[in-house]
Amino acid sequence: MIPEDLFSRHPAASASPSGSILSGDEVLPFFRQSGPAVVPIRRIGAEHHGELLAHFLALDPGDRYLRFGCAANDAQINAYVDRIDFVHHEIFGVFNRRLELIAVAHLAPSPADGEAEFGVSVLPSARAKGIGTRLFQRAAMFARNHGIQTLTMQCLTQNAAMMRIARHAGMRVHVAGSETEGALRVQPHTLFSHLDEWVENATGQLDFVIKLGMRRSQAV
Ligand SMILES: CC(C)(COP(=O)(O)OP(=O)(O)OC[C@H]1O[C@@H](n2cnc3c(N)ncnc32)[C@H](O)[C@@H]1OP(=O)(O)O)[C@@H](O)C(=O)NCCC(=O)NCCS
Repeated sequence: MIPEDLFSRHPAASASPSGSILSGDEVLPFFRQSGPAVVPIRRIGAEHHGELLAHFLALDPGDRYLRFGCAANDAQINAYVDRIDFVHHEIFGVFNRRLELIAVAHLAPSPADGEAEFGVSVLPSARAKGIGTRLFQRAAMFARNHGIQTLTMQCLTQNAAMMRIARHAGMRVHVAGSETEGALRVQPHTLFSHLDEWVENATGQLDFVIKLGMRRSQAV
């Protein structure tokens, strides 16, 4: 884990001198941090098939129902992971110190519609710490910088945590009985939104490499 104070609030960010490029809301995200711990998020690919499978198989039937809309059995989970299109879709992961995936977000773009659908799961031991919210923000950042205009999500109306994430993000939420759909129009990309994403990617990669090094040094 990267020391939190490495990313403590940059003094220039709060000064906001008139006309400063750091005024307004487009400041690198880590310099905006005033309290909560940084959650390094890494874009992951097919090389993490095994960790992805372990993550989804660790969800109990209730969580599988919330995540996939059905209490998917192990064979269905296997098929889902096998079908992930790592070329056109984005997978974001949060690793713990043992390099287990404790949280995964899947962003599935539909380029023809300018939309991408967001799905997320956080293992129970890591919940209510802001990780689901951070993954949503990370997916919205990706969408903004990659020509996606609208981020969508579907969840059960009873899914209080997901409903809160959607509402806090300012999603337009359409409740239809037990099912809810949300849509968020993302802002146009800017130089700063790309810089934000560069910092996010670098942080996620650095965190992973450090944890990999720690694991290897413990193995010898
Ligand atoms: C939905 C889910 C991803 C949320 O992950 P998380 O890391 O716990 O989310 P956060 O910690 O960012 O919490 C988001 C909000 O929900 C609230 N919350 C968390 N758990 C909650 C619960 N069990 N009941 C009510 N609210 C809850 C948090 O307080 C927070 O609200 P706040 O911002 O007003 O404080 C996680 O519960 C999960 O994986 N569920 C199973 C799969 C699923 O439902 N996926 C979503 C469908 S795609």
